Amino acid sequence: MILSANEATIAQAALALRDGQLLGLPTETVYGLAANATDDAAVVKIFVAKGRPADHPLIVHVAGVDQVPLFAAQVPDFAQKLMQAFWPGPLTLILPRWSGVAATSAGGQDSIGLRCPSHPVAQALLRACLPLGVLGVSAPSANRFGRVSPTSAAHVQSELGSDLLILDGGDCDVGIESTIIDCTRGEPVLLRPGQITRAQVEAACGRAVRGKDAPLDVSGQAAPRASGTLESHYAPRAKVRLMTAQGITANLQALGPHANNLGLWSNERPTSDQGMGSGILWRQQAATAEQAAHDLFGVLRDLDARGVTQIWVQKPPDTPEWEGVRDRLQRAAA
Ligand code: TXA
Ligand code: MG
Repeated sequence: MILSANEATIAQAALALRDGQLLGLPTETVYGLAANATDDAAVVKIFVAKGRPADHPLIVHVAGVDQVPLFAAQVPDFAQKLMQAFWPGPLTLILPRWSGVAATSAGGQDSIGLRCPSHPVAQALLRACLPLGVLGVSAPSANRFGRVSPTSAAHVQSELGSDLLILDGGDCDVGIESTIIDCTRGEPVLLRPGQITRAQVEAACGRAVRGKDAPLDVSGQAAPRASGTLESHYAPRAKVRLMTAQGITANLQALGPHANNLGLWSNERPTSDQGMGSGILWRQQAATAEQAAHDLFGVLRDLDARGVTQIWVQKPPDTPEWEGVRDRLQRAAA
């Protein structure tokens, strides 16, 4: 059931979370499938609805920095700076977790992923939850495990069915999931790229950001797992192939009139000389990383729904601001 978000429906949604129900929640990145973070039975419902393995930890969404000490046992200086710089916004921090708090949500990790979303509906909901005793809201992306993340209320309904209560907060602005920084290894480690770039994180905290294969700290803990970092993820039904603009032209010309049920996401619509034909569904890939991120999952989902068997995608530029989009495309193609 999709409800347009307003004061009354947000209050209703907060009560649903208090009562142990699930909720489709708009955020600025993608829609989440939300439950009360400290209600283990409710959190289990998330894993079941998504078909997600119980050892893949969920992000806990909080109304603000005041809620951080409820979940995190320790906040390094550099993490503090990152919250000041980017919260509310599309940045998740992995921090040491109080044992016994939100353990099911954390999927067996002794850490916790915390994020304070900027979407006004998410903010209003998290604030409405506090007086009800819901101090944080666990929410992975509201898609079935391994599939494309939803960026509209209709996407959520098509993934998870019409029994689910979904707050409609419009299309997501950012379009790809939050940047994740692991703050448990003594230095910032990038687990998942997003709209907030590695360079912005470095500038805000004054520390170099390592890649996710960074060495472990002295405690010798195994690196936490992040399903958003599995090699194959975000996969539509159609096969996704990444190609240069020249590669697309060469392959289209080779196929000639046989090109059928083919989706194409590229900067420019090919001419008929370049192999464009009626069996090809073309969508324009924006020239800026920000707009392309916004469009990405919707384009994959739309082409998939139209029954194409392959989606050819023009490789984005190799520059830093495209890291998040490149990452999602590489894993959609894996
Ligand atoms: O933008 C987002 O982050 C969205 C919206 C709904 O907030 N959420 C999202 O959740 O993308 P999900 O579950 O699809 O991805 C969360 C990622 C997963 O890769 C998970 O493994 C990782 O965060 N994660 C969560 N807690 C963690 C922890 N304690 N240690 C390591 N990774 C963690
Ligand atoms: Mg996800």
